[in-house]
Amino acid sequence: MENNFYDDWLSAARKADAERAAATIHARGRELRWMSTPQDARVAMVAGPQVGFRTMGGCVLIGEIASGWKTGRHSHGEESICILDGEGYSLIGGKKYSWQSGDCLQVYSEVPHQHFNNGPKPARYLQAMLAPLEAFMGILNYVQEAEAGPISDEERAQHSTLAEGDAGAVYSGEVHMEEVGAVSRSPVEDPYERTKKIHEAGRAYLAGRVILRKQDTQWKPTRQAGMRCALISHERGFSYRGVNFSLINEVPPHWHTGRHIHAEAMIYVLEGKGYSIIDGKRYDWEAGDLLHVQGPHTDHQHFNTEAVPVRYMRIGFTIRDLYPNYDKKEQVSTSGKIG
Ligand SMILES: [Fe+2]
Repeated sequence: MENNFYDDWLSAARKADAERAAATIHARGRELRWMSTPQDARVAMVAGPQVGFRTMGGCVLIGEIASGWKTGRHSHGEESICILDGEGYSLIGGKKYSWQSGDCLQVYSEVPHQHFNNGPKPARYLQAMLAPLEAFMGILNYVQEAEAGPISDEERAQHSTLAEGDAGAVYSGEVHMEEVGAVSRSPVEDPYERTKKIHEAGRAYLAGRVILRKQDTQWKPTRQAGMRCALISHERGFSYRGVNFSLINEVPPHWHTGRHIHAEAMIYVLEGKGYSIIDGKRYDWEAGDLLHVQGPHTDHQHFNTEAVPVRYMRIGFTIRDLYPNYDKKEQVSTSGKIG
């Protein structure tokens, strides 16, 4: 029988399951395929459809900027950045933000940005985006304004006089993006008022916090890991919508995390070595590796086998939050000593 759209839908869940089962979920930092683009002289996709991952539209890249070099200047959809190594500064929406290893930046949609390494060694930064999802939606709009290359003397002189962007700037708009849905669904609201509110929400989104420096992170105990610090989060003043480096978990030596089940997330190992059990399979990892918790119901737990702490960063793709019925979150156990 000829295939039709309804047959496709009836088999879609099984097809997605098969795609997930065949996909890569563990990226090894040692095995990345580095390349050059107009934006980054050296860059590798860590996770994303192009390297065999079956994501919900997200991807993660790692970029390297040589000492004395800059990236290209471009704009596109929302992007979360974590500086893994080195020191430098970024121009984001015309403002300057100095950074060093451990700092996080949020670049809101369509805000032009460019990164500069004025430190003595190569800088590495991790980037999470929703480019595959936005491409599918037909809203991915990459604008390349300038290409990667050495920092010129002129730029050096000009940028040294720029004032530092406000590190404490918070999500200050009167209307929060979460309210936009309610605004646009309201049947009684004046349509002109409604449009105004949507524009206000857009401005509030762009007024969100841009940088969180490592020195300003706050560690708190958590039952899932040991210690945790929030990164790009609403509680820390960021107005992210789609993607964020949300937190770092620290697992003490010879401890395991809680075992739990939830929808899509990724973890990037910053420090240490260990293994994870994901849907019954074991994956041995080390710093620089990434693991994909594919969802919609992925059972997983992480183990620190060494005498030093493990630190891993959680990467959130909030498209999953639009489908709460698929995220049947379940906490099976809490963290503890490997016994
Ligand atoms: Fe970018």
